[in-house]
Amino acid sequence: MPLACLTDFQAFARERLPKSTWDFIEGGADDSFTRDDNMAAFKRIRLRPRYLKNVVNVDTRTTIQGEEITAPICISPTGFHCLVWPDGEMSTARAAQAAGVCYITSTFATCALEDIAATAPRGLRWFQLYMHPDRQLSKQLVQRVESLGFKALVITVDVPKLGNRRHDIRNQLDLKLNLLLKDLHSLKERTSIPYFQMSPIDSSICWNDLSWLQSITRLPIILKGILTKEDAELAVKHNVHGIIVSNHGGRQLDGVLASIDALAEVVAAVKGKMEVYLDGGIRTGNDVLKALALGAKCVFLGRPILWGLAYKGEDGVKELLNIIKNEFHTSMALTGCQSVAEINQDMIQFSRL
Ligand code: FNR
Repeated sequence: MPLACLTDFQAFARERLPKSTWDFIEGGADDSFTRDDNMAAFKRIRLRPRYLKNVVNVDTRTTIQGEEITAPICISPTGFHCLVWPDGEMSTARAAQAAGVCYITSTFATCALEDIAATAPRGLRWFQLYMHPDRQLSKQLVQRVESLGFKALVITVDVPKLGNRRHDIRNQLDLKLNLLLKDLHSLKERTSIPYFQMSPIDSSICWNDLSWLQSITRLPIILKGILTKEDAELAVKHNVHGIIVSNHGGRQLDGVLASIDALAEVVAAVKGKMEVYLDGGIRTGNDVLKALALGAKCVFLGRPILWGLAYKGEDGVKELLNIIKNEFHTSMALTGCQSVAEINQDMIQFSRL
């Protein structure tokens, strides 16, 4: 039976993957309240369609940071793709290139960055950075990423410390034992810095450190994990180029707002000075439309991409992206939009439920 929607891929992945891998992917922090609310919050928003508009030609294309993508649906950074499919991130990169969307590669990629870039040389890629306590290591990584043609640096701000992932504790999951983080390993060979540990994220990073990053790269800097107007205003003040409104798929601080519920506040605070994107809980084309109506320029998918990989590697991710792009096309046509630019706040209303 063909898979018809993203949650069909989820059911398939659940059957196929070992329990500890499934739990690692699917789990949220603590009670997983925010993980579930990310999806529930989309269901509290209703659509207001407009009819008798010519929708023979619906164009889903848009741009992010000046680069064209075929639809405002791209790939969030998630680590450890080789847990799910043998050539992991290389399959993801090829699928993203074929689909014409952006793939944010994680610091915790399990394929070498050189291989990811070589396997999909025409794909639009951004790199997600977790700042290492050793700044020299981070500097070398950033310069390497820049020379490999990654087009932006995504700094994840919501992991000063890893959230409580109860299922991983119960499963005694130890990713270090299973996998080699090839990028940081190859850095080790070059620099003879001690082997990368799974707790390398610098908890001391502050707003002022952004100027250091800006001094070592020409890439646009995008902050991932901003949820409040206060931080959005600081992002403007520090001249970053974009924000991804995100709560890490509910894997960090449980009990924060669903990302779609935080979006409007952030969009209002940046006053059009930078692009705002969103991830968390996007499962249908209607979700994409709702996020754009609330001011997101583009959305990103986290777990669904891993479900696609688990299904059929590159082909699975292509199929999954194709389904949600088609759904979004239908959502646009059925609400009376010919172009992404026409999507606006009048097309939604919050349900009282
Ligand atoms: C993530 N996420 C994540 N984020 C990040 O900045 N760097 C990373 O390495 C990872 N790794 C990671 C692994 C796994 C298994 C998951 C599920 C998530 C968070 C990710 O980028 C994104 O914010 C959420 O996954 C979005 O929510 P959905 O689409 O999964 O609901």
